[in-house]
Amino acid sequence: MKVKKAVVPVAGLGTRFLPATKAIPKEMLTVVDRPTIQYIVEEVVASGIKEVVLVTSAGKAAIENHFDYSFELETYLAQKGKFDLLREVRNISRLINVVSVRQKEPLGLGHAVMVSETVVGNEPFVVVLGDDLVDSDVPCVYQMLKVFERLDESIVAVQKVPLKEAHRYGIVEGEEIEPGVYRIERLIEKPAPGTARSDLAIIGRYCLRPEVYGCLRRTLPGIGGEIQLTDALDTLRKERALYAYEFNGRRFDAGDKLGYLQATVTFALEHQEVGGPFKAFLKGLAKNF
Ligand code: G1P
Repeated sequence: MKVKKAVVPVAGLGTRFLPATKAIPKEMLTVVDRPTIQYIVEEVVASGIKEVVLVTSAGKAAIENHFDYSFELETYLAQKGKFDLLREVRNISRLINVVSVRQKEPLGLGHAVMVSETVVGNEPFVVVLGDDLVDSDVPCVYQMLKVFERLDESIVAVQKVPLKEAHRYGIVEGEEIEPGVYRIERLIEKPAPGTARSDLAIIGRYCLRPEVYGCLRRTLPGIGGEIQLTDALDTLRKERALYAYEFNGRRFDAGDKLGYLQATVTFALEHQEVGGPFKAFLKGLAKNF
């Protein structure tokens, strides 16, 4: 069955970026010239998906507005003859159809995905986490859809991380059945430091069969007292198969200050307009180190 919808949880408070995120959603923080959420939506659209289900909370209206038409702004730009900017602004809202559902309480990522069921229903779907920006030639979601088409079972994106960092991630253990594809035998959300038996960390991209909703409903609060998607996936792998896919690309944790800076520098260097001069600037800076 074709995957038509992407669920993007955006209800988090963004405490790692305070005070910047006191009055604006963390998903609206800019990397070069676009808010981080636009990178996510562009990856989804480039993968052939046009329906995005935002799982929101109070104070996130700016994200919905960003993907909506802005009559006043568009009229102004048209009147001023700023057609390049007009095209740019219109393209953002033309990219996707957005549906929002509210996560009324911050009960965890698993809970956020669970509330999307009313919109997604009995179809496979992808989940894309806004903190994980991926720089790749082929969009990460597209890579996952290709594997999903072949295996017809749920897939999580993974990357190898240093074992000493494993406690920051959901970790999967499994057997490599073909290069970069693992049949998952166990998942653990944020194992205690020093206890992880695998270096395969879940990165925020999932392609899930709808059976996951039943698993989520049966999932009790886990680490941090939250309903963890990883715990529901551990039930799913027992009831059906579940695979991990080591995607091609570089991932940045844009929810973390250092990761955000690394993403900014990387995307700035690739930027059509400022990439060249920015590279020259960095070279000048490097001379002083
Ligand atoms: C979430 C998931 C975790 C995953 C991580 C990737 O954790 O629960 O399994 O490894 O995203 O970014 P969070 O970073 O939201 O705590």
